[in-house]
Amino acid sequence: MSLKKGKEYDLNITDLAFGGKGFAKVDGFVVFVDQAVPEDVVKVRVVGKKKNYAEARIIEMISPSPLRINAPCPYSGTCGGCKWQYLPYELQIQYKQRHVKEALEHLGNIHDIQVNPTLPSPNIFEYRNKMEFSCSDRKWLMPAQMTGENIDTGFAIGLHVPGTFYKVLDIGACMLQPDLGNQILNDVRVFIKDSDMPVYGLKSHEGFWRFLMLRHSVSENQWMVNIITASENRNIVASLAELLMEKYPNVVSVVNNVTARKAGVAVGEYEVHLAGKTCIKDAIDPFVFEISANSFFQTNTRAARSLYDTVAGYAQLTGKETVLDLYSGTGTIPIYLSGRAARIVGIEIVESAISDAEKNCRLNQVDNCRFIAGDIRTSLTEIDFKPHVMIIDPPRDGMHKDVVRQVLDMSPDRIVYVSCNPATLARDLALMKNHYHVIEVQPVDMFPHTFHIESVACLGKNSGCK
Ligand SMILES: C[S@@+](CC[C@H](N)C(=O)[O-])C[C@H]1O[C@@H](n2cnc3c(N)ncnc32)[C@H](O)[C@@H]1O
Repeated sequence: MSLKKGKEYDLNITDLAFGGKGFAKVDGFVVFVDQAVPEDVVKVRVVGKKKNYAEARIIEMISPSPLRINAPCPYSGTCGGCKWQYLPYELQIQYKQRHVKEALEHLGNIHDIQVNPTLPSPNIFEYRNKMEFSCSDRKWLMPAQMTGENIDTGFAIGLHVPGTFYKVLDIGACMLQPDLGNQILNDVRVFIKDSDMPVYGLKSHEGFWRFLMLRHSVSENQWMVNIITASENRNIVASLAELLMEKYPNVVSVVNNVTARKAGVAVGEYEVHLAGKTCIKDAIDPFVFEISANSFFQTNTRAARSLYDTVAGYAQLTGKETVLDLYSGTGTIPIYLSGRAARIVGIEIVESAISDAEKNCRLNQVDNCRFIAGDIRTSLTEIDFKPHVMIIDPPRDGMHKDVVRQVLDMSPDRIVYVSCNPATLARDLALMKNHYHVIEVQPVDMFPHTFHIESVACLGKNSGCK
């Protein structure tokens, strides 16, 4: 049978593929089916066809897989925030372990590696300490919202539907954040609706209200509200800040990031402080961390502990080593390891994260960590010592190949590579494999109900390498 775009087929889903899609074969030809689970029997429509595979969407569930569970969230299946609620958590973490192993094998050509069972997240709901809700002048409608006479297709504040950039699902509650975050979200929605200021159109690039970012501190149960707008209007955002500070004693910080840039990222060109503190404080016992709106902090505070314990275990520090931490964010890894090394230097590009990192050292009475602000690609050349151990925790894109080359030139005895993207992990480890072998990989689940997975790889120097 030759598969055709737009045609319908009945398929037995046999597996889960890269990216969390269901996998089926039609006469040997691979089909990826969005939101399908192994053992589903589904009628699908082919929505795209490439040389080696096709993409399809379910149009009818003929017989659901016995593996499926009921997703508790009413937006599940539509919302892009988390797409795996219909899979039992036990299975999610098994698939994630396999996914990491397969990425190393297929994309990195790295075989026979010990990839341990995934360390589960302590909480599988309400685990996110940071949520970003987009504003849009166009609402994505849930099926129940499409009936009746006066269908409201206008303003929405919430999360994106996969594949759509300008329409947003108007979310009443997200189960990935603690419930007070949902109350704040709903108050902000009402305030924006009643305001005289227009909502930013993701197609027109005109309007005022752009994003709402909420940060939650697990240790203090406190909240930071960051309102991202396209221009500055202190009067209007100050009255929103006042409303939130008065209503919620747990809101301890309200800031306004202003950006006229078209890019859909919730980071301001500058920040206006509106009420309370400029930072929020959280803890990964025994350390406390102050985090500003635009500084990176692991989004699952409780699981970050398992992540950092894994890093500490793989680093095998005895107290005498010099450590270089690339992509150091708010300094969490250097501070976490500070008692086990002689000296740690972190490099990070975001200035506010560097000042948070320095402040966090003072807060924790840590005096053997130092931070360099700058792009790793250029800042690595400033390092005038040979580190015994390197910790590397890049963003999703992984390391630039110039950075890989510089790391190999520095030739640390051991490397601990932390990655939130198995594909770039596999690529980068492959680039290093003539110099470093992979001793072990530990997946750590920071993102339940999504197919994202964090992994920590322990690398040792190959014998014969300088
Ligand atoms: C995945 S986070 C890791 C942060 C930290 N290790 C932690 O556990 O909290 C990646 C960090 O790399 C920083 N970053 C991204 N590109 C960079 C670059 N070219 N040079 C230096 N830092 C960069 C980001 O700002 C972010 O703080």
